Amino acid sequence: MDKMIKLGIIGTNWITQQFVDAIKLAKTYELTSVYSRHEQTAKDFAAKNGATESFTDLGTFFDNGAFDTVYIASPNSLHFEQAKLAILHGKNVIVEKPAFANQKQMAQIQELLTNHSDVLYFEAARNIHTPNFHAIAAKLAEMTTVQGAEFTYSKYSSRYDQVLAGKEPNVFSPKFAGGALQDLGVYTVYDAVALFGMPQEVAYFPQLIRTGVDGKGTAILSYPEYTVTLNFSKVSNSHMTSEIYGLKDLISIDDAGELRQATYIDADNNRQVIANTIDENPMLPEAEDFARVINDPQNEQNHKDYENWRQLSMHVNKLLFNLRQDAHLYFVGEEE
Ligand SMILES: NC(=O)c1ccc[n+]([C@@H]2O[C@H](COP(=O)([O-])OP(=O)(O)OC[C@H]3O[C@@H](n4cnc5c(N)ncnc54)[C@H](OP(=O)(O)O)[C@@H]3O)[C@@H](O)[C@H]2O)c1
Repeated sequence: MDKMIKLGIIGTNWITQQFVDAIKLAKTYELTSVYSRHEQTAKDFAAKNGATESFTDLGTFFDNGAFDTVYIASPNSLHFEQAKLAILHGKNVIVEKPAFANQKQMAQIQELLTNHSDVLYFEAARNIHTPNFHAIAAKLAEMTTVQGAEFTYSKYSSRYDQVLAGKEPNVFSPKFAGGALQDLGVYTVYDAVALFGMPQEVAYFPQLIRTGVDGKGTAILSYPEYTVTLNFSKVSNSHMTSEIYGLKDLISIDDAGELRQATYIDADNNRQVIANTIDENPMLPEAEDFARVINDPQNEQNHKDYENWRQLSMHVNKLLFNLRQDAHLYFVGEEE
């Protein structure tokens, strides 16, 4: 039987609750430790979810916490320092997407990991771990001709209401490495890189909002024989399907972030649903994948998967940065 992974969490918003609900279903983790800036929040989250300890000081959390793996779901700009602390304390890291703001940070984390070879690192990009993503990838591998794709993931964010009311919530703040590319855009970048690899050239056309970040945008990734276009928005909704093009055939996907359903449409317009698994919790497949590797990192398949996800995380980090560079979009504290 697998050993239980002892989990600590940073951040107490709904996404952490969703991850904690997923680990309850996975049955291979136990939540032991909760960190929040606020004592009552930490205690309430711990009590609600059966954690044994709560902390308000990050140093004490890492020094004394009974956990071996930390899930980091803080604002994007804090991931780097928190992941660094975790690695230095010998804790495995599961960090929410986008893992780090730029390549400099990613390189430092990878160097630390080399020096702490017992520590595992995962970026929580939930879409690429789903059975539906695997089904899409398998179908793509069968297609004889591939001529690019268009991926769309756009959802109006309730936090844009706050921007319209004159405020600057973290997700729309350049101080916290926010914006549409860094948020919903990440899923489309993951889809593209996981399915097609790294492009040769990229261009990004952002639509900026009052706070200085991109509220929506279109990215074009250029490959030797085709382009992949990414559309994402947090300031508008879209029901546009995503598509991967063959010669006369294609794969049609309902939504590039949620990947709820994918249909293969052949040259004669016959339709075959190739993916429509609804997970009980959208974070369950990634939680199960990470647990499998944490519990048996030397297993050949686990090691291969781990290295693949790590490479993907580095590539996505590079691509996100290149896209921002193309659009001259920089966060507070980043020199051009
Ligand atoms: N995988 C997914 O489906 C998904 C969905 C949503 C978000 N995310 C990712 O999850 C991360 C968190 O996103 P979010 O929207 O939940 O962010 P958020 O609401 O801005 O912050 C998350 C948590 O971080 C702490 N925090 C907030 N502001 C802070 C500050 N100024 N300094 C230090 N800590 C602060 C808060 O916890 P305490 O008050 O308890 O300290 C808060 O609950 C992001 O990286 C995002 O991209 C992933």
